[in-house]
Amino acid sequence: MASITKSLPRRQFDVVVVGAGGAGMRCSLQLAQAGLSVAVLSKVFPTRSHTVAAQGGVSASLGNMSEDHWYWHMYDTVKGSDWLGDQDAIEFMCREAPHAVYELEHFGMPFDRNQDGTIYQRPFGGHTANFGEKPVQRACAAADRTGHAMLHTLYQRNVAARTQFFVEWMALDLLRNEAGDVLGVTALEMETGEIYVLEGKRVVLATGGAGRIWAASTNAFINTGDGLGMAARAGLPLQDMEFWQFHPTGVAGAGVLITEGVRGEGGILLNKDGERFMERYAPTLKDLAPRDFVSRSMDQEIKEGRGCGDGSYVVLKLDHLGADVIKKRLPSIREIAIKFGNVDPIKDPIPVVPTIHYQMGGIPTNYYGQVVTQTPTGENKIVNGLYAIGECAATSVHGANRLGTNSLLDLIVFGRAAGNHIVDSHPEKTHSHQEINESSIEYSLDRVNRLESRTSGEKAQDVGNKIRVAMQAHCGVFRTLDLLHKGVDQIESLVPEVKDIYFKDKSKVFNTARIEALEVANMIEVARATTKSAANRTESRGAHALNDHPERDDENWLRHTLWFSEGSRLEYKPVQMKPLTAETIPPKARTF
Ligand code: FUM
Repeated sequence: MASITKSLPRRQFDVVVVGAGGAGMRCSLQLAQAGLSVAVLSKVFPTRSHTVAAQGGVSASLGNMSEDHWYWHMYDTVKGSDWLGDQDAIEFMCREAPHAVYELEHFGMPFDRNQDGTIYQRPFGGHTANFGEKPVQRACAAADRTGHAMLHTLYQRNVAARTQFFVEWMALDLLRNEAGDVLGVTALEMETGEIYVLEGKRVVLATGGAGRIWAASTNAFINTGDGLGMAARAGLPLQDMEFWQFHPTGVAGAGVLITEGVRGEGGILLNKDGERFMERYAPTLKDLAPRDFVSRSMDQEIKEGRGCGDGSYVVLKLDHLGADVIKKRLPSIREIAIKFGNVDPIKDPIPVVPTIHYQMGGIPTNYYGQVVTQTPTGENKIVNGLYAIGECAATSVHGANRLGTNSLLDLIVFGRAAGNHIVDSHPEKTHSHQEINESSIEYSLDRVNRLESRTSGEKAQDVGNKIRVAMQAHCGVFRTLDLLHKGVDQIESLVPEVKDIYFKDKSKVFNTARIEALEVANMIEVARATTKSAANRTESRGAHALNDHPERDDENWLRHTLWFSEGSRLEYKPVQMKPLTAETIPPKARTF
């Protein structure tokens, strides 16, 4: 085997970034502008990364349209996270936000404008003025295509800075030395089916989320948790994976996202009696309460028989905004509603249901994006050479529930911070690439070879479907411990099936069956982490809502979960309650 690993084609870079969404490209831009050689791998063309689907805005306390302050933003984010967010990282993000957004503006991002030329900002769920007093206008928007505008801006800047893109490449496994430092990745070039060793003095995982482990999801098909699978197989923990966000407004039956920006512009949710039911659940913020709150309220309405149509959805009414506002501020939403919901929102309300949207957990990092693991004696330990940013990372600014528009912010703030941290460590001055442990290359090749050589077994699509059905059935908006434990058993029972996946067509060129099989191997790790972490947390917090343990339990559970793949082992670590400079925001009841 050693001779085979030696004969693999190798390329060397200062930094290898895996993923070309907002986080990956914000990071690579920082690196390339500093003169480092940067490879960015992406399964799809960069401007098709899932960031393109982010609609409503990127948060920053610019105060262009109503008074605002970064500490109010921090307060909302901590409260939104149900106190599971680390307050040092949250302070860092909220303070950096205006700078990060102005930087995008100067890069040429086409934000909507106010009459006075400043960036247009709309209200968004859970974002308030003066510590919860009333909604604030904090979401900086490019119509309802903010992520799209961000991706194009960052891609163009990266091209100018000479970032090297490897388009339609899939990273397979992390490569390490004897000491466990990360020194590169194995990667598959989809066009040829060839496997390469890409050496990087630093490796940045920016692979996005894994929302495709659910059957109904707002996520792109590429969101299969590839970075999480790579980390888990390398023995690194996944943090807080029990916390998954349901976006309140996915188009019923299709799952496609209808931005919270609709409610920011004044859209309202109605039940079958035409009642604006959010007034009952969240008297102050109403339809603009955080997503976990709104999703649960919708689910409750449906379960109690007040759903619309066949009883399985509620509706989002926006005709009262007027055709002009809808066409100007929400043009894509109108198109999506017509195409996927069969209604024109200028006249009729859109049928909507809570739909899986975002993973709050991920690969644990500090606020420079450095990946952190835990030693057997419970100490935090930085994994040399490895960074994680964006949705695949648990930095942890979102805790148990993310506020809308904080995800685009997370991408640019921590993409930039990780880039700066790497630049400051001067990888270009380390002349030689360190020796990769051949066994880590062998492990990866062996994994692929076993898949290639099987001539019978399970189909990736069938096993993938079983994962999606199990997740949908056992990890919903409301959960019970019994359901979760059954979910653990069901997902674990699929592990042998994943190992038994085969594909008939062994051709090399653009073989999507091979890609799907490799993706399912990542999905199973995420599903295992999610079910096991959820079944063990005996409280309700943020998006983890247990019918049989409806209260938050700070005494026992104000702590992060760490899941390790081997033996599906769980460890825990404390939440960072101390901000960098600000006053700690102490836990209290979460009402809106
Ligand atoms: O509703 C939205 O536009 C989604 C934004 C987000 O997830 O941050």
